[in-house]
Order: sequence, then C-alpha cells, then structure tokens
Amino acid sequence: MKTVIYYFTGTGNSLAGAKKVAAGLGDTELVPVASLQGTEEDILPGADRVGIVCPVYFSGLPVMVAEFAGRLDLSRSTYTFALVTLGGSGGGSTLRQLSDILSKRPGRGLDAGFTVRMPGNYILLYGSPTGNKRDRVLAAADKRLEMIVASIERGDKEMPFSAFGGLIHHLMYPRFAAGVHERDRAFTVSDACTSCGTCRDICPARNIDLVNGRPVWKHRCELCCGCIHLCPTQAIQAGKKTAGRARFHNPEVSVADLKGQRSER
Ligand SMILES: Cc1cc2nc3c(=O)[nH]c(=O)nc-3n(C[C@H](O)[C@H](O)[C@H](O)COP(=O)(O)O)c2cc1C
Repeated sequence: MKTVIYYFTGTGNSLAGAKKVAAGLGDTELVPVASLQGTEEDILPGADRVGIVCPVYFSGLPVMVAEFAGRLDLSRSTYTFALVTLGGSGGGSTLRQLSDILSKRPGRGLDAGFTVRMPGNYILLYGSPTGNKRDRVLAAADKRLEMIVASIERGDKEMPFSAFGGLIHHLMYPRFAAGVHERDRAFTVSDACTSCGTCRDICPARNIDLVNGRPVWKHRCELCCGCIHLCPTQAIQAGKKTAGRARFHNPEVSVADLKGQRSER
C-alpha cells in the first residue's frame, strides 16, 4: 500500500520519526509541510494511506501544521494516522486538535494517533538533555516507533485521550498560537556569527534573511527554535537565559536534511 507522510520539524526529531515509519512501512513518500506553504489550494494526497508527523507545541499543533491540516482533502485516504513527538506531555490534546480539524474536512478524518517521547527542545524554557540521558530517550523512542509501525500496518484505530491534557491545551495553546509569529522579536545574534546562513537555510517558515551577513527575523516565526539550536557557533539567543543552555538536534538528521524541508514542490 502506498503511503504519503507529511512532516514538520524544527530540530529533526519528527523527521527522524517520519523516516523510521517510512522505512518500516515501505513505499512511502515524505513530503515537508513547509514545502506546501504559499498557496491556498486544497491538498489531495496521492496515496491510500496518509500520515502526519510533527512536534507538540504548547500542548497543540505547530501553527503551520494546523493551517496545513485545514487544507487536507482525505476523501481518497483509506487510513490516516498522526504521530507527534514531544518532550513530556500534551500529545493527546495535540492529536485531538488535529482530529477535530480533519473531521471538518472531506474524508474519514484521523483513524489513529500516536505519541513518541523524544528529547525536548524548547530552549526558551530549558536546556535539552545531553549525553546518556539523551541517548536513553532516543533508544526508547526507537522501540516505540517499531510498535507504531506494526500498529499502522495492522490498521489499528487508537487515540490517546486525557481530559486534563485538554484543559492544559485550552489554557496555553490559544495564547501561543495568537502570538507565535512575533516571538522572534526576542531573538538576537552576537559577534560569534560567521554569516554561514545555516539559520536562514533551515528555517521551515522562511522567516530569516541575512542582511549584511547577519540574520534578520521577519515575524512569521513558528518558534521551532531550529535557528537557535543549529547555529554552529551558538551565536543566536532568545533573551538572556538561552546562552548557557544545551543545544540539540536529532543525531540522525543532518543540516542538509533540515534544509530539504523547504524545497519547492
Ligand atoms: C515552542 C515549543 C513548544 C513545545 N511545547 C511542548 C509541549 O507542550 N509538550 C511537550 O512535551 N514538548 C513540547 N516541546 C518539545 C517538542 O515537542 C519536542 O522536543 C519535539 O520532539 C521537537 O520536535 P522536532 O525536533 O521535530 O522539532 C515544545 C517545543 C517547542 C519548540
């Protein structure tokens, strides 16, 4: 059965997860959600099975993914699944949000939703795990992904539910979604910048220009934190607290992979 997986990633966890599911299922096309930006048209996947893979942001979907889901036409899909990667909690409410969006679209909506714990990357609040701690989380994620592939192959129907998660979503997500594009106003760059352009080239929102060799943010930020984590000289900060915090990107995803997320379709 042919599968198409749409993915969004900031620091590679969701892309690593999407790639593993694709390898497990076989005959799967990976399509970056970021490559579908800039048009208003409906999106009609050319496959029987459709997957959506993305991180959890404030117990909900990245705004770009919520907008993308609102354009998906699943009338030809026979099975639709979603997989969200997250540092701790909020996966159930994120899947519920996606399910609610898809239920208003043509087609059968979401058949199954899965969560996978991966290293947290919200550097505005904390440093990502490093060393053995990071490796343990990634090893457990690999095992979980194997189970998820088997579940998708069987066509399982499942959806985690947490009433408490729903409450947290309603408290946190609307404020996040309303202000997210402007959050880059807190981002700064130091003299450690080498003008390499990595931040510009990996940004899934095409939110960064280099002006006189320095990044300038254009206020359509998704807050993926990729620019902060991937800067090779750690020249990018958001406020005063990020300077001492550990940077992260998924070790199985390269800068070239992240740049590929923006390729034109
Ligand atoms: C803006 C932002 C908000 C986040 N909110 C949550 C959250 O509510 N719950 C959680 O468990 N992890 C949260 N995280 C952590 C990410 O969901 C997690 O690290 C994810 O695997 C990152 O995926 P990526 O590498 O594909 O970007 C957040 C990260 C960011 C950048």
